[in-house]
Amino acid sequence: MKITFFSHSTCLLKIHEKYLLIDPFFSKNPIYNKIDYLEYINNFKKIDYILLTHAHYDHVCDVELLTRKFNNVLVISNYEISNYFEKKGIKTYGINYGSFISFPFGKLKYIWAAHSSVFNDGTYGGNPGGFLLHTDEGNLYISGDTSLIYEMNIIPNFGKLKLSILPIGGRYTMDIEEAIIASDFLKCEKILGVHYNTFEAIQINKKQAKKNFYEKGKELILLEMGKSIYI
Ligand code: NI
Ligand code: MN
Repeated sequence: MKITFFSHSTCLLKIHEKYLLIDPFFSKNPIYNKIDYLEYINNFKKIDYILLTHAHYDHVCDVELLTRKFNNVLVISNYEISNYFEKKGIKTYGINYGSFISFPFGKLKYIWAAHSSVFNDGTYGGNPGGFLLHTDEGNLYISGDTSLIYEMNIIPNFGKLKLSILPIGGRYTMDIEEAIIASDFLKCEKILGVHYNTFEAIQINKKQAKKNFYEKGKELILLEMGKSIYI
């Protein structure tokens, strides 16, 4: 599995020949004041799925742009978010907490998150969540925006995680201290940190963050824009 980071919570997963884009945030992302986001989007070979954790604009604002540009994208999210985009003529697949669902790339489960979820126009965005993704290339947990929650203890019961993608910027989500405890709950030694340094309110010291994880026997991976890791 190849995971490419595009700042904030936006990651592109390549699982065999399927491309899954998580929480696309390009056009309104302040990082792209300096870089043209279309250069990145134009470089995408294709997108098969868009996974949305919750309805905040920094996770959903480019769904229409991307589904117009790429054909046959299936948007997977909670029931309310799916309905919102279905009404705009986008192909969606609504899910909620409680079971694995099989897709050609593996099986997916919507997982609890402690956060909020509302669209910029005020539309209710259902319960916020994350995704547990089990594939033949390994298991991955994408928490979405959330605080530390005790429920994370349940997740490793479904199978050993190779990697967890966790927010570490604080204020609206977990900070570094909470994310380290989360990685204990998840029994996961490798964390890809997201949701930091995009805005003034979520600044972190990258070197210090990595050191804090390292001292607890964990690895914090922080990718530069457009860079990838393989698991
Ligand atoms: Ni949020
Ligand atoms: Mn967010």
